[in-house]
Amino acid sequence: MKPKVLITRKIPQEIVEKISSVCDVDMWNEEEVPIPREVLEQKIVDVEGLFCLITEKIDADLLKKAKNLKVVSNMAVGYNNIDIEACRERGITVTNTPGVLTETTADLTFALLMATARRLIEASTYLRNGEWKTWSPMQLTGQDVYGATIGIIGMGRIGEAVARRAKAFDMNILYHNRNRKVDAEKTLGATYVELDELLKQSDFVVIMTPYTPETVNLISERELSLMKKTAVLINTARGGIVNEEALYNALKTGQIWAAGLDVFAIEPVSLDHPLLTLPNVVALPHIGSASIKTRLKMAELAADNLMKGVTNQRPDHVVV
Ligand code: GLV
Ligand code: GLV
Repeated sequence: MKPKVLITRKIPQEIVEKISSVCDVDMWNEEEVPIPREVLEQKIVDVEGLFCLITEKIDADLLKKAKNLKVVSNMAVGYNNIDIEACRERGITVTNTPGVLTETTADLTFALLMATARRLIEASTYLRNGEWKTWSPMQLTGQDVYGATIGIIGMGRIGEAVARRAKAFDMNILYHNRNRKVDAEKTLGATYVELDELLKQSDFVVIMTPYTPETVNLISERELSLMKKTAVLINTARGGIVNEEALYNALKTGQIWAAGLDVFAIEPVSLDHPLLTLPNVVALPHIGSASIKTRLKMAELAADNLMKGVTNQRPDHVVV
């Protein structure tokens, strides 16, 4: 008998077919609507594998209901939606999709950095609203990217990929990380600094760290107060790493110049969120890895991890 698996969202048919060759597949057949919690709770009971997204909270209460679960395959590199300890205790393997989304996410991070620095969204809206009456010397002026100082918090794969882009823009590259990255220092000319130093010196502060108990509210009132008045904060990692109320205050009072955010503490962000009232915020709906090729690769990798996990092979990307 094929092992039973649950896929929590409609994924491309070719990948469903591949999984079906090995597994008995049940799929929540909606693209834009997450699987309701009650449905997940009911279906988790007897499946051996779960293919899920960051929109599903895989917590201890849910795992308690699972009688046969061997593997939770997250179609994402981040896995803060999963209670890793609870999985470890139950001997459930957790997998993620690192590597395949590194360059795509770095592209988006850099695009957001440039869009925020040069006020692209505001400028485009200005044009479309008919406000463009003339060319004028200081109209829609922003911050230079070329030659500026970038401070990367979290020098993992994506952090390094952002640093490579920064190098091509002749930026001065600072980074902060749990461990020194001697290779990156050599090949990219990146300089390791303490977090406070990074915040004080950077024109662009880019958050690239995983979301863990240590990084909750890592950037809060004190940290923002160390940043330059002309500084831009970019977050394409996880919303909860930045204290949003503190960020709102810093942006509103001119403590920092602007922010580019692809992630929010609660997603989807509500339309009456104070940050969305500010003209110096560029907001995106968590699209870091959203290229067609990369999303397909992520789904394929998550499928591969799932299939290996339910057939007692070691998946390639095991978190725990
Ligand atoms: C998306 O945010 C991911 O972690 O892959
Ligand atoms: C994710 O791939 C990271 O390590 O930055």
